[in-house]
Amino acid sequence: MSESHSKKRTIVTSALPYANGPIHIGHLAGAYLPADIYVRYMRSTGKDVAFICGSDEHGAAITLRAKKENKEPKDIVDTYHELNKKAFEDFGISFDYFHRTSSELHHKTAQEFFLDLYEKGVFEEKESEQFYDEEYGQFLADRYVQGTCPKCGHDAAYGDQCEKCGSSLSPTDLINPVSTLSGKEPRLKKTKHWYLPMQKEEGWLREWLVNGKLNGKFHHDPAAWRKPVIGQCKSWIDGGLQSRAMTRDLDWGVKVPLESAEGKVLYVWLDAPIGYISATKEWAANNGKNWEDYWKSDESRLIHFIGKDNIVFHCIIFPILLKNQGEYILPENVPANEFLNLEGKKISTSRNWAVWLHEYMEDLRELKNKEDVFRYVLTSIAPETKDSEFTWGDFQTRNNSELVAIYGNFVNRILVLTQKYYDGILPEKADLGEYSDILASLKDHASNCDKNLNSFKFRDALQDAMSIARLGNKFLADSEPWKLIKTEPEKVKTIIHLGLQIAANCAIAFKPFLPDSSTQLASYLGINGDDWLSLGSSEILKAGDTIAKGELLFAKVEDELIQKQIDRLKGNTEGNNTNSTKKELKMKDLIEFEDFLKLDLRLATVVKAEKVEKSNKLLRIRIDLGAEERTVLSGIAKQ
Ligand code: MF3
Ligand code: ZN
Repeated sequence: MSESHSKKRTIVTSALPYANGPIHIGHLAGAYLPADIYVRYMRSTGKDVAFICGSDEHGAAITLRAKKENKEPKDIVDTYHELNKKAFEDFGISFDYFHRTSSELHHKTAQEFFLDLYEKGVFEEKESEQFYDEEYGQFLADRYVQGTCPKCGHDAAYGDQCEKCGSSLSPTDLINPVSTLSGKEPRLKKTKHWYLPMQKEEGWLREWLVNGKLNGKFHHDPAAWRKPVIGQCKSWIDGGLQSRAMTRDLDWGVKVPLESAEGKVLYVWLDAPIGYISATKEWAANNGKNWEDYWKSDESRLIHFIGKDNIVFHCIIFPILLKNQGEYILPENVPANEFLNLEGKKISTSRNWAVWLHEYMEDLRELKNKEDVFRYVLTSIAPETKDSEFTWGDFQTRNNSELVAIYGNFVNRILVLTQKYYDGILPEKADLGEYSDILASLKDHASNCDKNLNSFKFRDALQDAMSIARLGNKFLADSEPWKLIKTEPEKVKTIIHLGLQIAANCAIAFKPFLPDSSTQLASYLGINGDDWLSLGSSEILKAGDTIAKGELLFAKVEDELIQKQIDRLKGNTEGNNTNSTKKELKMKDLIEFEDFLKLDLRLATVVKAEKVEKSNKLLRIRIDLGAEERTVLSGIAKQ
């Protein structure tokens, strides 16, 4: 079963996260989890799809963070690139490639892209007056200036954006501007930059976004886009597009590849989306593919998963760049999510009001299939068309009353009954008779799930998968095989047969959402769970197949664990304003490999350990080094 479009290839991107901090639930729910679900779904229908992401390692987000921690930008991006890459892996985000924009290939790709547009005459070269910090000898782009927002009066708006009202700004719009470097009032100084005259693009952009047409031809169905995404784009265009500088006076970033551009780098919002292209190149080179088949062919579709704060960059600026280059395809859809709030408040990195992925992994390590539980909860509340909210109470309810009580319970029951009555061998079914409407419902849920996944309605699609589990659970409860086993054993065979087929459907339907527990279930049933096209069928398993005993898929979350999480969250902010990764960051610097070689580490067997008289700390230990024995004293007696 699959409704999907006919193009040969799909490239799916998730916004490149800034490598200036760890990943929290808001990020995961916004741009990564839905993309991963979509990609896993596509793969299981046999489609050719490349799932691309990487670290965004340039821009003021990085340099300001480095300054705050008193480190070099390179150290910051190295640390967080690794931390974030690992966090994504832990949660099963199955990127085909997780690149980084500091790589040489990326620098080269971004420079070539810029140069190509430059030679095509796309940019305007202009001198203008910009803020300059005398003390630091540096121009103050974007976040290097703070001041009062001219639109809403918020007194800590940045030079590129006011986070309070969301307006996009330029540094000179700010009232009472202050340099975030020296804290002083900046002065104006002349500088030259290359601008993208976006106002020239209004005509085709509108036609493309509103009517889904490009060069007079059908490009995509605008009704398939989320309303808030189109709404935001329209209001940007209606507000009047303007020239936007594509270069910056900074020393951290991709150097502008022009002789007259000493000391300048590409604007991070030009460089970062090109990161999707360079990542694809790297992936293709490693996998015997041709990257251009994905980016420059009418047989390919491009889908960007992002959070709503990235809409203009992906729906207006990057498409303008791609179109002006001429050979690239434009996005077929940009399923941007709204924001996820946390326990009644906005997620905030600076106030540490967040659930960090690496901390979740640690704190909930005992919870069964914890990654899947998180994926389940975050997808159930995904902020697809409006902001939504995560609470620990809701997390507990969804785990206990849905995953455990419905899905887990159904699976457990059917596996146990199969063992008990048939020693784990799938029984034959007879004519379905009164149970045939179960099949009709199964087919409905399966087809809805497929349709919803195709339309990026992940919340609904997950509910459809859950409906299959619910159907199975109710089927067993209503048909009561445990009562019929004595009187109507033939009928029980049919019930168990059908129940197992429903379980197989669960394994397939849940797999994109809950990869670990689905793989677990699939293995009990002797299938791999990857065959989406058989979803809705009642003939996935065959009579005579061996069915394993299995273990529970999910387990209850107790109140205590939830309370701990809430306490931690509140403790984080009250009187403690530091970022929660401080723990990790306090580690000593890595030593050089040469230093490591100087060490002489030996493994020894303890042959005897005894207390040292008059000391309650010391142990006298006899160790065997192989060639000799030695006695050492060690202050570990208390432990
Ligand atoms: N780093 C940006 C953010 O976190 C997203 C960059 S997306 C890309 O908001 F397209 F530029 F890569
Ligand atoms: Zn504002």
